[in-house]
Amino acid sequence: MNVKISPSVLSADLTRLGEQAQAAEAGGADWLHVDVMDGRFVPWLTFGPPVVKALKSITSLPLDVHLLTVEPERLIPAFAEAGADIITVQVEACTHLYNTIRQIKDAGMKAGVALNPGTPMSSVKCVLEALDLLMVLAVDPGFKGMPAYPKSIWKVQRVRRMLDDFGLGQMDLQVDGGIKAANIADYVAAGATAFVAGSAVFNDKATVAENIAALRKQIKKL
Ligand code: DX5
Ligand code: ZN
Repeated sequence: MNVKISPSVLSADLTRLGEQAQAAEAGGADWLHVDVMDGRFVPWLTFGPPVVKALKSITSLPLDVHLLTVEPERLIPAFAEAGADIITVQVEACTHLYNTIRQIKDAGMKAGVALNPGTPMSSVKCVLEALDLLMVLAVDPGFKGMPAYPKSIWKVQRVRRMLDDFGLGQMDLQVDGGIKAANIADYVAAGATAFVAGSAVFNDKATVAENIAALRKQIKKL
């Protein structure tokens, strides 16, 4: 089973961001997750295109950029230029969702759409074919280290069924928020194929490589 792990640099030691990104790459991460927060869609401010550009210069991991912003369409060209490989936008922030997906793909990147816990999956049904990735948030975004909302497992099962029904079983179904060694296998069993993990990967309990290995060990047991 080829399950992708995308460590979120929001939980990294930002005084050593480059080293931490390289530790994720050496530790077997598949992608690197960058949460872009604008102080409007979510309360915090985090990273902009210069940080993505700097990461691009020190890692060959695909950069998985999550726009937790209003009007994401205004930011897409700058993140494309900076070296983003995947851009995921929040469906709640997109007035013209299909156009925004096309804009990401026309700029040569993979396009993802994320659903907050309270957002029904029907909100993306009409654009599913245009997507490369669908993200189910297991927390309301904005903060690291929050516990996953348990009903998200049920949502992942339903989304998996929807993708299969549409003949889109190959599309990545990513879960973000509250992913730990204790729950990752439940989400894989429910049909998720890709994970964001922040505090489970970057913490002072173990090395980045050990933490990634601990997540993979749970998946292998399935
Ligand atoms: C949620 C962010 C996540 C966050 C996950 O606001 O979109 O990507 O970094 O962090 P953990 O894994 O600690 O919940
Ligand atoms: Zn995220």
